[in-house]
Amino acid sequence: MAQIVAFHYSQTGQGLEILHRVCQSLSASGFDVVYKPIRAAVPYPFPWSSDAFFDAFPESRQGVGCELIVPDLSDVPDPALVLIVWPVWFLSPAIPVHAFFQNETVREFLRNKTVITLCGCRNMWIKAQEKTNDYLFDCGANLRGMIVLQDRHHNLVSVVTIIRWLIGGKRERSGLFPDAGVSDKDVRNSSIFGYIIAKEFSNPERIQPELMRIGAIRYKANIAFVERVGYRMFGFWSRWILKRGGPGSERRKFRLKLFKYYLFSVIFLASPIGLLVFYLTYPFRIFGIRKERRKRCYLD
Ligand SMILES: Cc1cc2nc3c(=O)[nH]c(=O)nc-3n(C[C@H](O)[C@H](O)[C@H](O)COP(=O)(O)O)c2cc1C
Repeated sequence: MAQIVAFHYSQTGQGLEILHRVCQSLSASGFDVVYKPIRAAVPYPFPWSSDAFFDAFPESRQGVGCELIVPDLSDVPDPALVLIVWPVWFLSPAIPVHAFFQNETVREFLRNKTVITLCGCRNMWIKAQEKTNDYLFDCGANLRGMIVLQDRHHNLVSVVTIIRWLIGGKRERSGLFPDAGVSDKDVRNSSIFGYIIAKEFSNPERIQPELMRIGAIRYKANIAFVERVGYRMFGFWSRWILKRGGPGSERRKFRLKLFKYYLFSVIFLASPIGLLVFYLTYPFRIFGIRKERRKRCYLD
């Protein structure tokens, strides 16, 4: 029976639920799945306090990993496939995910392995996926598939619901606002990805095109446009904040507070204007968008 090792980092359980659905199909197709949590030595809180949430920003964006509890890999000496479930934090992989990919034991383990990544996020994942792919490329893994599940609601609606969820701990719909995060339906339907992976297992270069046929990644050009600008700005802010010290430092609190105000004003004031510019210039962008879509869905 071919063995699959499934690494996962998920705070709320959303990413883990997606992984379970995918792995149920793989187990039903005859694979032996071994789950391995990715664990920070000092766990990140959930729900978050507002301060802790924003304090995670500079390290997420700059790829500064935390201390990791290195997974015991002695029971998975030679898996046929590696799955990695990870969330996006501030347009980058989560801090424990950076730590995971930066760890020498993990890097050595991933060398020459066939890998498929699964990301559950709000809706801005492109640069984070790029970073994850760079990590995998650097350690010599063979990345064969990417699945990205997102919140399908309007960008501004999903900002409100995700904050209510991550900082307030409330995921369920209330008032005018829907459930936060990836919909229950999309989570349930992710079992289909497991069947595709099982079917194309012996033909790994077919995995991504086949995953894409059933919508493993939805590329939204308007959101990608906003993300590109945001990612660049986050780079400046994170470097500026890091000059005042590391995680939890009192000296960086004022700069983090300024970043928080900046972020909310950009999301609710500047991004609608940015999107208007995007739509007004859309006809001039069509060919570029098509090319970018193929690139981001990893079909080229
Ligand atoms: C600190 C933090 C920052 C986040 N930033 C983003 C982001 O930039 N883009 C995005 O699509 N989702 C973002 N999310 C949402 C996560 O990607 C993810 O959907 C959510 O945290 C649930 O994932 P889980 O499986 O870890 O519980 C963020 C979450 C956290 C906790």
